[in-house]
Amino acid sequence: MSKTPKSMIVGTGTGIPEKVLTNKDFEKIVDTSDEWITSRTGMKVRHIAEDGQLTSDICAEAGQNALNDAGLTAKDLDTIIVATITGDVGFPSTACFVQEKLGAVNAAAMDIGAACSGFIYALDLADSMIAAGKAENVLIIGAETLSRITDYTDRATCVLFGDGAGAAVMRPAVDNRGVLGTFIKSDGRLHHLLYMPGLGTKYPPSVDTINQRYHYIKMAGREVFKYAVTAMGEAAEKIIDIAGIESKDIDLLIPHQANLRIIDATARRIKIPSERVYVNIEKYGNTSAASIPIAFAEARQEGRLKEGDLVVFVAFGAGFTWGSAAIRL
Ligand code: ACO
Repeated sequence: MSKTPKSMIVGTGTGIPEKVLTNKDFEKIVDTSDEWITSRTGMKVRHIAEDGQLTSDICAEAGQNALNDAGLTAKDLDTIIVATITGDVGFPSTACFVQEKLGAVNAAAMDIGAACSGFIYALDLADSMIAAGKAENVLIIGAETLSRITDYTDRATCVLFGDGAGAAVMRPAVDNRGVLGTFIKSDGRLHHLLYMPGLGTKYPPSVDTINQRYHYIKMAGREVFKYAVTAMGEAAEKIIDIAGIESKDIDLLIPHQANLRIIDATARRIKIPSERVYVNIEKYGNTSAASIPIAFAEARQEGRLKEGDLVVFVAFGAGFTWGSAAIRL
């Protein structure tokens, strides 16, 4: 028996920078090839923010599109949650800048940091707030400008990441439609496998931290890959149990888009055939917290989803963090 939903998604939208970097572009920047990138990751193109284009800018674009889709205005919002690891400034939260840009004067605004799992964490929080009667109109956004913290001299990481934002408006559930369950988990003992040492208070910026390239992503790719496959598989299995659903009833699996091989392994673990798995990694690369909401908004726009369909999100990211959610549309 599937669970009774307390909240539902009533609108989605995206904010995607226009500029792109292709695999061929990377052949001119580092020692790599289109063939290596495509076969190892599934990526072809990623979008990159223009100079001066901020995370809050693409958040506001995605947020406004989601509000339009939901038939609501910014003034209706009581809560804004932005999931990001690439906020505009050290503080205040990027959500506060988004609030200003949208004119959402009646909202409380906050950021949540769970890297690539951030959107699932935001959805879990919004669902809990709505279920507790503490919020009614919640805007959740996953957004990154990872290009600003990407080391374009490191071929092992620079080809992977892109920029973008995806948003969803959440409201109390009606007609038994909405969030059937969520699952979130972390293992902070593994922080050293994917992290950015600088730009926090541990290493205040100095000539030394700049020279050591502390302001860029560091990743032990092979290790991350191993844990990602295990954790995404666990998250996919857990949500089937938590939400009281069966794998055969899932109409669309929307996994975090980090690597096509990780996506395939996750789908195999819960026996979902590829035609029921949403993949757009070739167009965006890994946009961290933005990847699931961008994919979900696109799947809706393309008509791949209809009312009553069952959708499952699964994500994994730095921390490590991982999680999943099941939604009856
Ligand atoms: N082009 C050509 N060769 C490369 C490149 C590149 N862009 N990058 C690495 N290589 C080389 C390596 O130097 C290595 O060469 P060597 O054997 O001579 O030492 C070889 O390719 C194999 O390297 P691996 O790291 O073992 O390659 P792998 O098959 O594991 O693929 C990848 C690397 C794509 C990074 C993979 O490990 C992966 O996807 N890991 C998970 C990444 C991930 O999901 N990160 C995001 C998590 S989400 C978040 O929170 C941001």
